[in-house]
Amino acid sequence: MNALDRYALRRTVREAGQMLALAGVASPEVDARLLAEHLLGGPLLLADGAPEGFTAAYAALVGRRAAREPLQRILGVMWFRGLELECRPGVFIVRPETEVVAGAAIEAARAVASEEGRGPVVVDLCAGSGAIAAAVAAEVPLARVWAVEIDAAALALARENCERLAPGRVEVVGGDATAPAVLAELDGRVDVVVSNPPYVPAGEVEDVETAGYDPDLALYGGGADGLRLPLAVVERAAALLSPGAVLVMEHDPGQGAALRAAALGAGFTEAVTGQDLAGRDRYLRAVKERASRA
Ligand SMILES: C[S@@+](CC[C@H](N)C(=O)[O-])C[C@H]1O[C@@H](n2cnc3c(N)ncnc32)[C@H](O)[C@@H]1O
Repeated sequence: MNALDRYALRRTVREAGQMLALAGVASPEVDARLLAEHLLGGPLLLADGAPEGFTAAYAALVGRRAAREPLQRILGVMWFRGLELECRPGVFIVRPETEVVAGAAIEAARAVASEEGRGPVVVDLCAGSGAIAAAVAAEVPLARVWAVEIDAAALALARENCERLAPGRVEVVGGDATAPAVLAELDGRVDVVVSNPPYVPAGEVEDVETAGYDPDLALYGGGADGLRLPLAVVERAAALLSPGAVLVMEHDPGQGAALRAAALGAGFTEAVTGQDLAGRDRYLRAVKERASRA
């Protein structure tokens, strides 16, 4: 027997959406519905009502969201290019804008597969939860993928997410992604390096959910302009990539010109800035010099 009938359930979810809107949540109705579905175990659309205990449990979840705990953290899952990844405290929550960045890397990897008829070698530097690496493996069936992450909690999660979503397809390595010794065996042999490194400039105001729940190690790129890590990734990518191969790296909207210049000075020929779905400058796409082919 349901404690809430179908009408009372929908009214409760509607009121939760209004409460989340007042709290400043960006997508209040969607979040209210997803929190309800988390407890119901299925689509709200199909629910005839809710059982005893739903009201109190739902109020608790909505209260956490109203206090601006990220939805993914409450649900324990996050979504990326159609994949459902586990989300854990202490590990960066993958963002929608990164789907476009991963898409550019996937396109470059597919071009290698179709033009050269072989499995492309792809490296994800600063892998976090493993979202990009898992997406590349899932969407480019022939790709051989490596992922590097320095933080122990993120490393463990990346291993689990990649193994579940692309079994046996991603080698997840612990270490400093900018250190020449890490993946040195792949130097000069990689077709695509993709990276979403820490790049936030020092002291730049972050939204309350980012500041409260994403680790500083994942956010701040180092230095006043946030470019220390991204510049080191450009250098490391230049060593990993084969001639004519592609680097795709996410960055802050204000870092496009500096990173294009850095890439051109580090052995890349073409360097362009790509935009995210909101039209903001969001990633560097650079091609490694072909003239350096021995
Ligand atoms: C912005 S997060 C991105 C994570 C993931 N690529 C994504 O898009 O969700 C940056 C990640 O880089 C990791 N990181 C920071 N410095 C690093 C380094 N020197 N080497 C490897 N990983 C690093 C952080 O721990 C964090 O997981």
